[in-house]
Amino acid sequence: MDEAFWQAKWERGETGFHEPRPNALLTRYLPALHLPAGARVFVPLCGMSLDIHWLLAQGYGVAGCELSRIAVTRLFAALGLVPHVTPCGALDRFEAGKLCVFAGNILDLTPQQLGAVDAVYDRAALIALPAPMRVAYARHLVALTHSAPQLLICLEYDQSCRAGPPFAVDETMVRQYYAGTLLPARIARQAVPGGLKGACPAWESVWTLTPCPGPAP
Ligand SMILES: C[S@@+](CC[C@H](N)C(=O)[O-])C[C@H]1O[C@@H](n2cnc3c(N)ncnc32)[C@H](O)[C@@H]1O
Repeated sequence: MDEAFWQAKWERGETGFHEPRPNALLTRYLPALHLPAGARVFVPLCGMSLDIHWLLAQGYGVAGCELSRIAVTRLFAALGLVPHVTPCGALDRFEAGKLCVFAGNILDLTPQQLGAVDAVYDRAALIALPAPMRVAYARHLVALTHSAPQLLICLEYDQSCRAGPPFAVDETMVRQYYAGTLLPARIARQAVPGGLKGACPAWESVWTLTPCPGPAP
C-alpha cells in the first residue's frame, strides 16, 4: 500500500471506504473523550470524510492529513470553502476557517507543522495500512500529537478470508502498537451488518486511547 496505490484509487474513483453520512460511531462515542468546547481534532488519512463536516459543525477545529489532492480539493469544495494553499515542507497546507488539511504523506508531517491538537479521530486510517506500516504510523502519530487521546475505530475479521485493506486489527495489535504511550480501552464492539463485503463475519470496535500515566514523582 504505497502512495501510488492510494493515488490510483482516488484517480479511478474507487472510494468505497467513503461513507455517505457522518460515522455513527463517531457521533455516538466522541463524547467519551470529554473534549472541551472548541478543541482541535486531528483526523489522519482523512480522505474527504463527512466526519470532518460533522466535527466542524460541533464547533471543533479540525486538522487533517491526506495523500490525495483530489480528496482534499473535493473536501473543501463540499464544505463550500475556498482554501488558502501554502507549501509546508514536503506537504501543502490547505486552510480555510477552522479547517486545515495537509496534503501529502503523514510520515512527512512534523509536530511543528501540525501544531497543537487536543485529540485524534482515527477511522479507516490505522486499518488502511499493512502491518509493518501500522507500527511506523502509530509511533509517528503519537509523536506528532504529543500523545493526544484518540478515538480509534478498528475492524476485526479473519484475515485469511480476505486480503486488506481494510486490514483486521484486533486487541493484541492495538495494545502492541500503542504500548508504553497510550492506554487502550474498548468502549464498544458490534457486528458489521453483512460482514466484510459479504466475505466473512466482521466486527467494529471503538477504542479510546488515553496517555499512559507517567512515573510517580
Ligand atoms: C481507507 S481511506 C479512509 C479515508 C477516511 N479516513 C474515511 O474514513 O473516509 C484511507 C485514506 O488514507 C490516505 N492515505 C494512505 N496512506 C497515506 C499516508 N501515508 N499519508 C496520508 N494519507 C494517506 C488514502 O489516500 C485514503 O484517502
